[in-house]
Amino acid sequence: MTISQRRRTGPAGTGTSTDDPAAAEAVFLDATVRLLEPLGVRPGETVVEVGPGAGSATVALAHAVGELGCVYAVDVDATMLDVTVATARAAGVADRIRLVLHDLEEGVPPLPGPVDAVWSSWCVHHARDWDAAARALVGMLRPGGRICLAEGGLPSRCLPWDVGIGRPGLEVRLDEAHDRHFTQWFFGRPGATRPNRGWNEILHSAGLTDITAFSVLVDIPAPLSERARDVVLAELAARVRRAQPFLAEDDAATWSHLLDPDDAAWLGHRGDLALLTARTGFSGRKPDA
Ligand SMILES: C[S@@+](CC[C@H](N)C(=O)[O-])C[C@H]1O[C@@H](n2cnc3c(N)ncnc32)[C@H](O)[C@@H]1O
Repeated sequence: MTISQRRRTGPAGTGTSTDDPAAAEAVFLDATVRLLEPLGVRPGETVVEVGPGAGSATVALAHAVGELGCVYAVDVDATMLDVTVATARAAGVADRIRLVLHDLEEGVPPLPGPVDAVWSSWCVHHARDWDAAARALVGMLRPGGRICLAEGGLPSRCLPWDVGIGRPGLEVRLDEAHDRHFTQWFFGRPGATRPNRGWNEILHSAGLTDITAFSVLVDIPAPLSERARDVVLAELAARVRRAQPFLAEDDAATWSHLLDPDDAAWLGHRGDLALLTARTGFSGRKPDA
């Protein structure tokens, strides 16, 4: 099933943010399905997903292409491809999936031919050169083929403004520290290129036309189910871990209380956690030949 012979571990910083990407994707699945809609995938089509993570969108795409269609799942991380095919197997659609171990930063993946549509979510911003990565996405398409790229949106709001310990406004300061972490990680890599503009313009430069941007709301109000709560806690822990060098000392101490299940202030004890965020998609078309 794997059409690439190479196996390799994804570079640090490119994977999903938590140890249980399938659980996280399940919480975001409704939003993902809505972001996929503009792609208009039809039965019998061949589509590519770049950066499938645990494969929840891969399964949605496999249902859309039907028995006669095909989904190429392209990822730099062999482990993610293993998880993707396991997810597809569990959903009974593994026969429609082809795995491609490939780094988008190396250009267009080795596919048998041009495809009808390309989907990628929360993946391309990991590339050092977003323009080159966008050209690689467009390079897979047949004339008239479609792309939907889910990138950007809003940071999540999960906590009340005042959690009762530390300074109020903790989550806003975490966003700021995390952004500083991302900036340092992004530009710390040789060859990292400043994008200078938004995804719609990047996709336009890569050769797409009819580009539209749209956002979907993820609105899971308090009190959260245990499943959603665990995902929120895991995502917060991952963000705090990455942002740690940029957090003020008192905020770091507050987070260590809030994220410790043995601490009286553990966030898991609260009934006022929520998940409110927005995700943005950019869709467009390769001009007809
Ligand atoms: C944060 S996960 C996103 C998973 C899923 N698409 C979602 O929206 O939740 C990023 C995915 O992109 C993959 N990825 C990151 N950089 C890549 C690259 N340069 N080429 C191919 N895949 C890459 C990762 O291995 C991972 O599967």
